[in-house]
Amino acid sequence: MRAEQQSSMSILVADDEDSIRFVLREALVADGHRVSEVSDGESALDSLSSDQFDLAFLDIRMPGCSGLEVLEKLRASGSDTPVVIITAQNTMDNAVEAMKRGALDYLLKPFSLAQVTALTERARSTRALQEEVRELRREVSGVTTPGTERLVGRSTALLEIFKRVGKVAARNVPVLVTGESGTGKELVAHAIHGASPRSEAPFVTVNAAAIPNELLESELFGHERGAFTGAIFSRLGRFREASGGTLFLDEIGDMPIDLQAKLLRVLQNGEVVPVGGRDPVYVDVRIITATHRDLDEAVKAGRFREDLLYRLRVVPIDIPPLRDRREDIRTLGEHFTHRYSGDLAEQPTEIAEATLDFLENHNWPGNVRELENAIKRALVLSSTNVLSPEDFAFIGDSNPVGDEPAALDGIIRSRVEESLLEPGAQDLHRDLIEAVEKPLLSAVLAHTAGNQIRAAALLGINRNTLRKKLLEFEISVPGRGRNE
Ligand SMILES: Nc1ncnc2c1ncn2[C@@H]1O[C@H](COP(=O)(O)OP(=O)(O)OP(=O)(O)O)[C@@H](O)[C@H]1O
Ligand SMILES: [Mg+2]
Repeated sequence: MRAEQQSSMSILVADDEDSIRFVLREALVADGHRVSEVSDGESALDSLSSDQFDLAFLDIRMPGCSGLEVLEKLRASGSDTPVVIITAQNTMDNAVEAMKRGALDYLLKPFSLAQVTALTERARSTRALQEEVRELRREVSGVTTPGTERLVGRSTALLEIFKRVGKVAARNVPVLVTGESGTGKELVAHAIHGASPRSEAPFVTVNAAAIPNELLESELFGHERGAFTGAIFSRLGRFREASGGTLFLDEIGDMPIDLQAKLLRVLQNGEVVPVGGRDPVYVDVRIITATHRDLDEAVKAGRFREDLLYRLRVVPIDIPPLRDRREDIRTLGEHFTHRYSGDLAEQPTEIAEATLDFLENHNWPGNVRELENAIKRALVLSSTNVLSPEDFAFIGDSNPVGDEPAALDGIIRSRVEESLLEPGAQDLHRDLIEAVEKPLLSAVLAHTAGNQIRAAALLGINRNTLRKKLLEFEISVPGRGRNE
């Protein structure tokens, strides 16, 4: 059945009756899940508060503490783990209580295995939704919790970067992180914040390339009520939200020139003036910027202010492309395999030495992000517990070392020729992106059977970006009637 497509869930079974635990365990393990068992309410609470479970079956009557009490305490602690209350007596009161306290469902003994399977599938969708909501919240707030991902690598280049991160962390000097796309610029910014005395304060990201120019100023500096049409409420702005912490200005090379002047003033005075406001407000933020563009070139071309560049580049950190620090490929290959094996593979998976050799010989034009995504993809597709070079056949044809990415190159060339021949064609760039991205998105979605969360994870983009692209390219999602 579909089970081999779905990843396994971690499930707690709490019941004082051995036979019930036995039946549940057999059913859940047969469906490919990992099961922990306890026989009283207190142990159930302990387990739930120390481990991450995707679902808990709680007997209503247990020694120590009833299933309903466990559920109540769990919710009070802020946990949203789905809970199924099991009971031998069907009383309306208990059913009502269970649902009121936030149970996923209420299961009457004796139950069928089909019921158990149906419940776990429901818990899985609930989990996925909860994760989606959390992700959206994080995106909306722009505030992330850095420090969860580690910078990994053993090249001299990376060691130098680690040292520099350590040196600058404690002092509030502006750092400019440069490097090709996917080299780890954002991760370095996180690392600096995480190692700084501001680590407990907010880390706020603004991506200058992702926000329309006309909104960027109020995004950064906030606005007063009524400052412009549609400004119904006043807004704090990212600078003030980052107060006491770090403001990460990503893709700073894409910031429009008039806004660069305003940013420069803020850096000089340490004060922001909200759009439509008069009074400057003092802000205490640390500024880290990043870009994949060559800012010296941009200065020469008149697209970037030289005085701003000097202010931002007090300490530069340049991350070399992955192909120039190949020693890191092995370490990263092993790191990502361990990191994602549990979530993406059907079984704990290792990576073979021969595979690491193979990966090391690739050029990785998309740098660490591309390597990370390749490993995720291999983990999902592989049916054994060791990743072999064959599992990475998909990178083999399109991008061997020393060769141009031939297939992509072909597409691009033909598109360029086409649109040169076509007198009305204007937006070549968009056209190309669509030509390249549309088949990719369709293939990944077909692979994840329409699951957009997994598709976004495999592509290394966030869920919103994926959704926008699906609408834009009019791709219909398999297994669904429309694009959601
Ligand atoms: N040294 C590293 N160790 C572990 N993971 C890394 C490392 N470098 C990059 N990554 C991972 O690679 C991915 C891309 O990194 P990141 O987003 O920091 O790159 P970036 O340089 O900001 O890219 P872009 O220019 O496209 O925004 C992330 O998932 C990140 O966690
Ligand atoms: Mg980035």
